Amino acid sequence: MKIAMIGTGYVGLVTGVCLSDFGHEVVCVDKNCAKIETLRKGEVPIYEPGLDSVMQRNMDSGRLTFTTDIAAAVAGAQAVFIAVGTPSRRGDGHADLSYVMAAAEDVARTLTGYAVIVTKSTVPVGTNRKVAEVIRNARPDAEFDVASNPEFLREGAAIEDFMRPDRIVVGVETDRARAVMGDIYRPLFLRDFPIVYTGLETAEMIKYAANAFLATKITFINEIAALCERVGADVKSVAKGMGLDGRIGNKFLHAGPGYGGSCFPKDTSALARIGQEHGVPQRITETVIEINEAVKRRMVDKVLDLCDGSFNGKKIAILGVTFKPNTDDMRSAPSLTIVPAMIGGGARVHVVDPQGQREGAALLPGVAWETDPYQAVADAHAVVVLTEWNEFRALDLGRMARSMAEPRMADLRNIYDRGEAMAAGFQQYEAVGR
Ligand code: NAD
Ligand code: UDX
Repeated sequence: MKIAMIGTGYVGLVTGVCLSDFGHEVVCVDKNCAKIETLRKGEVPIYEPGLDSVMQRNMDSGRLTFTTDIAAAVAGAQAVFIAVGTPSRRGDGHADLSYVMAAAEDVARTLTGYAVIVTKSTVPVGTNRKVAEVIRNARPDAEFDVASNPEFLREGAAIEDFMRPDRIVVGVETDRARAVMGDIYRPLFLRDFPIVYTGLETAEMIKYAANAFLATKITFINEIAALCERVGADVKSVAKGMGLDGRIGNKFLHAGPGYGGSCFPKDTSALARIGQEHGVPQRITETVIEINEAVKRRMVDKVLDLCDGSFNGKKIAILGVTFKPNTDDMRSAPSLTIVPAMIGGGARVHVVDPQGQREGAALLPGVAWETDPYQAVADAHAVVVLTEWNEFRALDLGRMARSMAEPRMADLRNIYDRGEAMAAGFQQYEAVGR
């Protein structure tokens, strides 16, 4: 089947590459010419483990191509995926649908025959119907259906998540569209990965409900962590004890510096707005958003305490600034709140991140970028673990402590423990919830 993929960001590129790996002919389009140039050379513009080899394999086979010419991509395609961004609209927290609607207009102009227009972007309830309306108004003659096919992949594990999904959600209204969607995902269906067929509104809702629930789970454990600190309990053991209950599960119960990333913050905010608009406030989600902001501020206070109440003149080493490991994505990373607070207080901040500098350089003005953690901590008054990259999990703590002006650590991802840090020569060790 020929498939057009509009948008080659974290989701569009992974989806396009993986669908070509299923045997489909995929043409990926982006309006960003530089990105398409890079992709055509076989280079991946983002950091996503494992993506480059699958991409190269399918480019070599001729099934995967890249273009800026939407008409060429859409011509003859039986499915056209819209995988463009839906960021938070400045000011009101709504999902900004301008990119989706612009893509729908592009598709309307270029449709040549029957195609299913599949929304992969995360979009508020009602958007798929609007996409259909835009196309119908622009091209009353066009033969098409729409389908909602939200994506659940996580950055850093995107290939695995796409190839081995917990489920695939498909919102469709006609048998013809359902058949096309069934063909697209046939390789996964044959391997017994569940496909949930629903109506359009339900599919749109599932995506927001899933993300808001996961954000709630993280926020719940972050609030429990704060209480653990007061009462002398250990949140890691609490999470383990809770998570072994099959009804709760152990995933997304890691306390930390607050959730970030390109999805949870904007999707919780959009869900809250959707609820308000429909007169059904999503009070749990609204509270989660508030608490997550407070969690980030609590982290600043934690490091401030470690620095005896003042950042002024202190050197602070930060290990990790991306919102999670194994990605170069800095969108809504907790570091974007925490690091500027330190700099604002007069700290000299030195940062090491295996992939964060390319995007982070513009977002974190005033920091000194380092490549070696030991270099970064030399003469520092505190070291802060902000992102749990593997390369930070087994550092020589003794070597670090010996080179620091004040051997103090704020381990905001709980990757070490107090006993080992103190034994290695740290004078103070603060974690989250333990
Ligand atoms: P992104 O910003 O990385 O990529 C979007 C791409 O679309 C950009 O390359 C941009 O140039 C391109 N684009 C925008 N308008 C276009 C147009 N009219 N024609 C051609 N190209 C166009 O975004 P992303 O992170 O991939 O997210 C895309 C969607 O997927 C969002 O709705 C997001 O909520 C959702 N989503 C993201 C993730 C994730 O982990 N990033 C996971 C699940 C769902
Ligand atoms: C998320 C969803 O998991 C995915 O299904 C959706 O498609 C896109 O949004 P992603 O943002 O890539 O994926 O990363 P995720 O692993 O969910 O982490 C999001 C944030 O929560 C990160 O800042 C992470 O550090 C934080 N987190 C996650 C915790 O603090 N504790 C946890 O237990 C899990």
